[in-house]
Order: sequence, then C-alpha cells, then structure tokens
Amino acid sequence: MELKELGNTGVMISEIGLGTWRYKGGVEPLKKGIELGATLIDTAEGYYTEDVVGEAIKGIREKVFIATKVSGRHLAHDEVLRSCEQSLYELGTDYIDLYQVHWPNPSYPIKGTMEAMGKLADRGLVRFIGVSNFDIDETEEAQAYLGNHKIVSNQIRYNLNDRSIEEDLLPYCEDQGMTVLAYTPLDDGNLTTMPTMGSKGKMAVLRDIAEETNKTLGQIALNWCTVRSNVIAIPKSNSVKRTVENCGASGWRLTNEQVQRLDEAF
Ligand SMILES: NC(=O)c1ccc[n+]([C@@H]2O[C@H](COP(=O)([O-])OP(=O)(O)OC[C@H]3O[C@@H](n4cnc5c(N)ncnc54)[C@H](OP(=O)(O)O)[C@@H]3O)[C@@H](O)[C@H]2O)c1
Repeated sequence: MELKELGNTGVMISEIGLGTWRYKGGVEPLKKGIELGATLIDTAEGYYTEDVVGEAIKGIREKVFIATKVSGRHLAHDEVLRSCEQSLYELGTDYIDLYQVHWPNPSYPIKGTMEAMGKLADRGLVRFIGVSNFDIDETEEAQAYLGNHKIVSNQIRYNLNDRSIEEDLLPYCEDQGMTVLAYTPLDDGNLTTMPTMGSKGKMAVLRDIAEETNKTLGQIALNWCTVRSNVIAIPKSNSVKRTVENCGASGWRLTNEQVQRLDEAF
C-alpha cells in the first residue's frame, strides 16, 4: 500500500482508505483492509457506523488513522463539541485523527463551528481538522476562523464519471497543500460493471486498460483517482473479497498514456 502525506502535516496515510457509508459488512472487511495497509478509515456520526469501526480497531488503535465527521445539522459551537464527544464514545477511542465538517450549512455561522473545531484540536481530542463538500470560498472562510490550525483536507466526490472538481477545487487544494479525500470513487459501483462484449465507449476503454494491466475495472478507477499526488480514494465495500480487490488498486501505477486515454474517454 502506497502512503501519501496528509496535507503538509508530515503524517503519512494510505492512498486507499475504507469508506463506511451504508456499510453493513461487520468487522471482517475492515480488519482485512487494515491488514493490507488500508489504515485510513472514513466514517461519520451520520453514518451510524462509528461503533463497528470502533469494534474493528480494538487493540490496534495506534495502527489506524480514523477520519470521522460532525454532521451538517450539528454545526453550532456547543453541538460540535458534543458530537465529538459522542463520536469518541462510539469509536471507543480518546482521539480522532481527522475530524471533518461533513457539509457546510448556512443556517449556522461557520465562525462558531470552526472555533469549536480549533478547541477540540487544542484539547488533543482531534489531531487534524478537515472539511467535506466545501467549495473554495467556504474553505477559505472556514480557515479564517481557525487561527493557527490548518484545514488539511477536503472530502469531495471524485471519480471518472464526475470530474467537476478538476476545474477549480482540485487545483486549489493542490496549491494549498490540502489532501483531497475522493469519495464515491467507484461511482457507487457504476465503474465496476463490465461492458458487453464488443461494445465501444468509455467503459470499453476502462475494460481495455484493465485487460492490459491485468487489473479489475475497479482497480483502474481507483488508481486513476490516486494518480494525483494529493488524492486519496476511500471506496466502501461490505465484502472481504472486494476490499482485498480495492486494496490492490495501490502499489502500482497506470502509465501516463493510460491516464490520458481515460481522461479523453471520460
Ligand atoms: N463526505 C461525504 O459527503 C460522502 C458522501 C458519500 C460517500 N462518502 C464516503 O466515501 C465512501 C465511498 O463512497 P460510496 O460508498 O458512496 O461509493 P463507492 O465506494 O464508489 O461505491 C460503493 C459501491 O460499490 C460496490 N463496490 C465496492 N468495491 C467494489 C468492487 N471492487 N467491485 C464491484 N463493486 C464494488 C459496493 O458494494 P459492496 O459493498 O457490496 O461491495 C457499493 O455498492 C463512503 O462509504 C463514505 O465513507 C462521503
């Protein structure tokens, strides 16, 4: 498993993480992923999967990097503090590696939200602060209320079928030294469906490259995400077999020519 630096923190995290939205796989897929080096686990208070993550990491807390999120409905200052406390309880840990604001919510002044995030970091309950689904202006505004703490990551939807962030948000994050946690990197499984024999079009390009490299469609889709030095992909799978497959998306690299063919097709 290849590692990448989280922002400019000096902390290295796996370039394939384990997503847990709508996760129903129990502890085994998570444990297998961790064993294969996918030590970044992404969860959220809103997923109701923090407890199973907590179970999977029992006894190996220091080996994993836990990213969780405060819900966009809990962004008032004191609610952020309360949500964090509850997440720590569910996860069975005394610190969160990356605490992310799940969604911006204009009903709550971002000042109070970010001041609470800063306090959690000052108290050592949170190692790093991130955002999710924030555009450039929202990220800059959030950063302005964080004092000396830095927003180290933005978790955003990014996959071959949805490349909208390439226009401005992705280059902005690159410029700022922020990691992009690419969510829904398999387009919810749509990028793993084998096209019919002899068909043409973008999925046929994906299939051809999978055949050339002896990898699966999903592995190509994930490797394409992580070609960029600041992008980490966090696929979710309920199955041990597909978790092993997804971890096999790291440790090798698509050639520039293959990336170009995918960029042109999608
Ligand atoms: N911050 C946000 O707002 C936000 C939003 C959405 C997602 N996320 C995060 O990103 C993670 C991943 O996104 P996602 O769950 O939306 O979508 P995804 O990872 O793109 O796709 C998950 C779907 O693909 C299937 N799958 C996984 N690996 C596969 C493989 N190798 N071959 C074939 N099918 C495969 C899964 O089925 P099985 O489970 O049956 O394998 C599931 O149906 C989430 O779990 C969550 O942690 C964050």
